[in-house]
Amino acid sequence: MKFSTILSLSAALSTALAQTFTLPALANGSYILSIDGDGNQVATEVTTANVTDTTSKRDFTSTINSRINKRFNWPSGTYPWCPGGDWFLQDDFYNHGFSAFYDSCYANGNHKFPAGTVFANYQGTSVSYMCSYTTNPCNTAEWSDAVNWAASNCYGRSNGWMEPAYLHVPGWNKRYGYAKAGAGIC
Ligand SMILES: *[C@@H]1O[C@H](CO)[C@@H](O)[C@H](O)[C@H]1NC(C)=O
Ligand SMILES: *[C@@H]1O[C@H](CO)[C@@H](O)[C@H](O)[C@H]1NC(C)=O
Repeated sequence: MKFSTILSLSAALSTALAQTFTLPALANGSYILSIDGDGNQVATEVTTANVTDTTSKRDFTSTINSRINKRFNWPSGTYPWCPGGDWFLQDDFYNHGFSAFYDSCYANGNHKFPAGTVFANYQGTSVSYMCSYTTNPCNTAEWSDAVNWAASNCYGRSNGWMEPAYLHVPGWNKRYGYAKAGAGIC
């Protein structure tokens, strides 16, 4: 492979992986983040979905090692990534954020989120999200499996805090992840 080819490939890659959104500080709840015609980031609250975590808790720890027995056939090229950045409270994510995003994802059924948007759920210090690079639905089984895989790879934990992570799914033009407000994502 010629050096010029490598250069243009890496340029394309860094463009594809550029973080498009900066997670704003928002109250607990579900939002769609988008970019308006002037290039400004806009957050729209998703009011049609129940975004509380009042439904039964899913047993998360028992599935933490499900990576070796995934229910999901992710398209080739899928990979987990540990982007670094601010850590957030494990309790906010595992005991609130994970199921709040799951419920919001479920409540939105087969709704397809527009290309270039983020479907996000805020619970305390944690933000759970799905990036749609093309029009994409949210899927609860994907979410669970994506978190299991990402969390088993990005295992930074300390004094109740945990590091952000995501599962990038280029074959489906989407990404699932979790981070703290202020992080650059997608
Ligand atoms: C939200 O939850 C309430 C109480 O369970 C239910 O009656 C209502 O239909 C839910 N709304 C949506 C949009 O799911
Ligand atoms: C937001 O969610 C977190 C985690 O569930 C909770 O600890 C906090 O009390 C919530 N804040 C408000 C204002 O409801």
